[in-house]
Amino acid sequence: MQLCVKKSNIVLTGFMGAGKTTVGKLLARRLNLELVDTDREIEKKTGMDIFNIFDKYGEERFREIETGVVEEVAELSNCVIVTGGGIILRRENIERLRRNGVVVYLHAEPDVISKRVIRDKSRPLLQSTEPLEKIKELMNIRKPFYENYDIKIDTSQLTVEEVVNKIINKNKIINKNKIIHSEF
Ligand code: S3P
Repeated sequence: MQLCVKKSNIVLTGFMGAGKTTVGKLLARRLNLELVDTDREIEKKTGMDIFNIFDKYGEERFREIETGVVEEVAELSNCVIVTGGGIILRRENIERLRRNGVVVYLHAEPDVISKRVIRDKSRPLLQSTEPLEKIKELMNIRKPFYENYDIKIDTSQLTVEEVVNKIINKNKIINKNKIIHSEF
């Protein structure tokens, strides 16, 4: 007998401005799944916005809170889980999310990201006089961490609908082939 175990969550990872939030909203609607966003959960938990958490407590404390939120959302089922761009920095986060989730890495080229986030003041790590340089620097450091995915999509030249369609199709194939073990 073959036992097929489907992963019921879709986890969106990727750099800031790669499109996780916008794609996540449409994806959840299309698949009739619940939408969960780790940054919003952190804000609910702390009663503070992300910018103020960084400002008051620093990045390390933010990462601890983020890991706590990952522990909770990894237990959910039938959700699209949108993650903050730095979630991959702790491998335990992605390992947890992967147990019941197909991990999608949304990539975008630095110049595309720069245009998307240029006026956004809510991302503490990009408040630099040289945002493009900062994006390139961070992306370079994070590259090996982002490589831990099931599906990779470059969103640079795609519409939100196109990205969502690609995820839905690839997720179908992954779940169809997901045979965890066989029993006879
Ligand atoms: C961060 C990304 C942000 C947010 C925080 C840190 C990062 O989320 O979690 O500002 O380290 O890349 P988005 O990727 O949704 O912007």
